[in-house]
Amino acid sequence: MSKLRNRLNRAKEMLKKRGLGFLFNWIFSPLRKKMVIWLYKNNATADLANALCSVKQLQLEITSRCNFRCIMCDQAYRCIKGKDLNLSDFETILDKLPGITTLCPQGLGEPLLNPDFMAMLELAKKRAIYTYVNTNFGLFTENIAKELARLADSVTISFSAGTKETYELIHKGSSFEKTIKNIKMFMRAKKELGHKDPEVELKFVIMSKNINELGDFIKIADELGIRRVFIDDLIPLKEIKHLKVDNEESVKAIEKVKKIAEEKNVKINFDLRRQSLSVNKCTWPIDNVFIDVEGNVYPCCNIGVFFAEGDSREKFSFGNILKQDANEIWKGKQYHQLRKMMMRNKTPAVCKMANCLYVHSSEEK
Ligand SMILES: C[S@@+](CC[C@H](N)C(=O)[O-])C[C@H]1O[C@@H](n2cnc3c(N)ncnc32)[C@H](O)[C@@H]1O
Ligand code: SF4
Repeated sequence: MSKLRNRLNRAKEMLKKRGLGFLFNWIFSPLRKKMVIWLYKNNATADLANALCSVKQLQLEITSRCNFRCIMCDQAYRCIKGKDLNLSDFETILDKLPGITTLCPQGLGEPLLNPDFMAMLELAKKRAIYTYVNTNFGLFTENIAKELARLADSVTISFSAGTKETYELIHKGSSFEKTIKNIKMFMRAKKELGHKDPEVELKFVIMSKNINELGDFIKIADELGIRRVFIDDLIPLKEIKHLKVDNEESVKAIEKVKKIAEEKNVKINFDLRRQSLSVNKCTWPIDNVFIDVEGNVYPCCNIGVFFAEGDSREKFSFGNILKQDANEIWKGKQYHQLRKMMMRNKTPAVCKMANCLYVHSSEEK
């Protein structure tokens, strides 16, 4: 087993050096996932089943501070201690997870608030790690625009409205005009660089307060020169359950604006899959991890970001990567128990607590 793993790692390094690392993941990731599910279903030993799980995607909270208090976000309801991750801890975390191919530098906070943010993106770039940035675009300068356009591979801009009134109501603390000005600044910087990257997407979290503004939202994307929008489900924290719209209603609203999107050449992506999947289809415990600003490791971002109980999320963590060896956590007892339950389609209590959309669908069956 270890000989095979070494050979595979060498092949992967070779492809990585030639800029073809994606080929390896493209071929082996789906295969690996299928094998892990099969092993757990067939009572494999912890060592064998865990050996195939390795962190590929890292979601890392580089700050827990935020300039907004959006009405759908935990930031508005929990007492989170505001803190930035420093560059040296960031590097330590990357060193401890050498297999990662994708980094999403966000959690419960606004990544642009971390003064080392661009240095972190630079470090990831040097290691050929794909960076996916999710930001509110509230804080911007010409320099940030240029650096973000140069360093990020993908940028998602949170913008859950189609009018100034709703935008400022949902993204509390924001200014519609300022965000629009900042997005324009960024799109100009990207154009000046002349490359296709970063990919840019405008993101809309659908809820009762904005569902009627999808058409205007698409028009805004078009006016900004953004050709892709992402419409996401609302994670119903207990304080905002009343804002959740049901799936059918969301689908109808999207159908209604498809023509506008086609006319404007804006592609709509909508994550409907999560609502029809069951818990054993979740691949977070196989190759994804969420780490908070203190270094606490969680089996998924819903558990670390959208935790529903009290103000302390640390009690749901499986260990601390700044204090422990990564494998001690990732191949440890808690992870093994969680994987075992999930791959056998049983919902762990922690997933229920986090209001995960996989859980809702599997419980309905
Ligand atoms: C927590 S924010 C952190 C990054 C950054 N501050 C931002 O707003 O883009 C990440 C994403 O979560 C989304 N979000 C916040 N609360 C949500 C909820 N209850 N359900 C679904 N998505 C949510 C935001 O719209 C944003 O796109
Ligand atoms: S969604 Fe993003 S911008 Fe809004 S409060 Fe949460 S972390 Fe801040």
